[in-house]
Amino acid sequence: MGKINRICIIGAGHMGEAIAGGMISCSGILPENITVTARTRASLDRIAAKYPGISVSSDNAAAARGADLAVIAVKPWQTEAVAKEIGPALDYGHCTVASVAAGVSFRELSDWLRKGEEVPALARIIPNTAIALGQGTTFIAWQGVTADVCGEISGIFRKMGTVIAVGEEMMAEGTALASCGIAYGLKYIDAAIKGGIALGFGEKEARDIVISTMKGALALLETNGTMPQQEIDKVTTPGGYTFKGLSAMEECGFSEAVRQGLLKSV
Ligand SMILES: NC(=O)c1ccc[n+]([C@@H]2O[C@H](COP(=O)([O-])OP(=O)(O)OC[C@H]3O[C@@H](n4cnc5c(N)ncnc54)[C@H](OP(=O)(O)O)[C@@H]3O)[C@@H](O)[C@H]2O)c1
Repeated sequence: MGKINRICIIGAGHMGEAIAGGMISCSGILPENITVTARTRASLDRIAAKYPGISVSSDNAAAARGADLAVIAVKPWQTEAVAKEIGPALDYGHCTVASVAAGVSFRELSDWLRKGEEVPALARIIPNTAIALGQGTTFIAWQGVTADVCGEISGIFRKMGTVIAVGEEMMAEGTALASCGIAYGLKYIDAAIKGGIALGFGEKEARDIVISTMKGALALLETNGTMPQQEIDKVTTPGGYTFKGLSAMEECGFSEAVRQGLLKSV
């Protein structure tokens, strides 16, 4: 048995649920070892029904007591209150506190969780929602966590997809590219489906065609080890249909729009 046995997840929203689901279905964590909290009965009932055996509670401090890993998965502006609520219940001798809140720094977390001289080992973890399917991309930064605990927590998240360890200074950039990025990828797919409908396909048909085309595009990159432009060059004849389509997209500012979206989300 490793050092992380009991896990509490404070917040049962999109991210809290995705993490709980990924831990159970991908990382082999027993539901009995996870407690999830939320404010409302409806959220607790939803989680309890979806993951039989999991514990749910509206009492954050009680859920945190005895945890080896406390994951704070509430909105950034709710994090301070939650940290101050669970801190006194946690034993910093064995508990690592992980925050998934975008933009909440180690300095803030340390201030909110500090008990006299004592601060807990901290992780900032930014996954994206695909972790529930074992296909997430998760950025992790560490502060004061021992190598074996880093390895164990990384291992849990690696079973839910790709893990990228970074210094805290790159967390915002990682959040933009991978966490917000999942929405940006879906935005292209959404636009392509709407374009497919404009071309005369039904909505479901267009959705299936775009998904299958995206899978093919990703397979080309992964199998060939190429960069996208290399694959684009293979299908683009000057003056041809693809060339005309790409030119129209760029005239409308496609690449610059994506770049600006990424820069603005840091
Ligand atoms: N969504 C993403 O893709 C994503 C990616 C990376 C990081 N994050 C980060 O994840 C965090 C959560 O985002 P989200 O999208 O999951 O938000 P969300 O869907 O709104 O969920 C927030 C959850 O927190 C619960 N909550 C709020 N205050 C609480 C309290 N005092 N005690 C216990 N539970 C409380 C809410 O309970 P009720 O359900 O009962 O209201 C809700 O279940 C954010 O800080 C965000 O920056 C999100």
